[in-house]
Amino acid sequence: MGRESGVMVIGGAGYIGSTMVQKLIDEKYQPVVFDNLSMGHRRLVPKNVPLVKGDLRNYKDILSALKKYKPGAVIHFAAASLVGESMTNPLKYYDNNVVACVQLLKAMKETKIKKFIFSSTAATFGEPKRIPIQEDDNKCPTNTYGQSKLMIETILKDEARSTDTRYVALRYFNACGAHPNGRIGELHDPETHLIPNILKVLTGEKKELQIFGDDYDTPDGTCVRDYVHVEDLADAHLLALEALNRGMKSDAFNLGSGSGYSVMEIVREVEKVTGKKVKVKMSPRRPGDPAKLVASSDKARRVLGWKIKHGLESIIRTAWEWEKIKNKSK
Ligand code: UFG
Repeated sequence: MGRESGVMVIGGAGYIGSTMVQKLIDEKYQPVVFDNLSMGHRRLVPKNVPLVKGDLRNYKDILSALKKYKPGAVIHFAAASLVGESMTNPLKYYDNNVVACVQLLKAMKETKIKKFIFSSTAATFGEPKRIPIQEDDNKCPTNTYGQSKLMIETILKDEARSTDTRYVALRYFNACGAHPNGRIGELHDPETHLIPNILKVLTGEKKELQIFGDDYDTPDGTCVRDYVHVEDLADAHLLALEALNRGMKSDAFNLGSGSGYSVMEIVREVEKVTGKKVKVKMSPRRPGDPAKLVASSDKARRVLGWKIKHGLESIIRTAWEWEKIKNKSK
């Protein structure tokens, strides 16, 4: 593997990771996937991409993979990411997310790999004081998932200050949509995300969509989120990688579309795109849900040159195509 073109994608058998692997192939990089396949799926990794089945918490697994493939950079997607579960089982999140990432960084240090891209989250901000949220806004996570990601951002800052490792932390808002090639999309179990859950009502997999709260301080009372297509996220990683290759200093970026949509607006848009009626049921609030999360992505546009290609219609159309075929392409 060439030192510059080789990229190890940790968690590359997951939803966002496998979209990134495809992007790297398209851009003539040489990805290699490292994944423990606890949440990821072998079938999301193209057959000609090496897949190392290993666990970051087992130092030997990651050290030997890095020694073997000698990538120029590492992109780290692997994490436990269910907000609700993080509140009932916090140790799982500190182990899976923080301990595992420290092991990875130690193995990178030992093998002298100095470029790192990290999947962070809007959940690092907690309840925002202003919308849209800017990178330097106050960070006070309201759940253990966000806390675990913020801890890693702190670790990365310290590491970059004291060594010549450079990193980019990318804080995703609501990742959604599917790859237009029809081979990659969301395959979560359990599925907690809004758009796939709406689509499952249309395929008959779910009886109705529960709307978690209609008494928020938002125009229609349902929560407002910033939905960003998974392929646009992959583009941002590629730009971050190229920026690191050009010598950019360590930095953090918010990745969202800059537009907020309420749960009801998403339901209406799904009805418009699919031509089908969604059965909904108003339900109590889900603990830990902030009323409104919308990113300012000006910095990613300005510094990385990021441009969003997919709007809401394209997000829902690609997600719907995937939802209809995902079980057939097993
Ligand atoms: N929602 C419903 N019904 C559902 C599912 C979701 O009403 O069946 C609502 C939620 O209450 C929320 C909105 O739809 O208001 C979006 O919910 P998601 O679960 O799709 O996404 P979240 O905004 O809760 O979480 C996402 C990521 C997290 C990340 C967070 C950061 O999944 O990993 O964004 O903002 F931490």
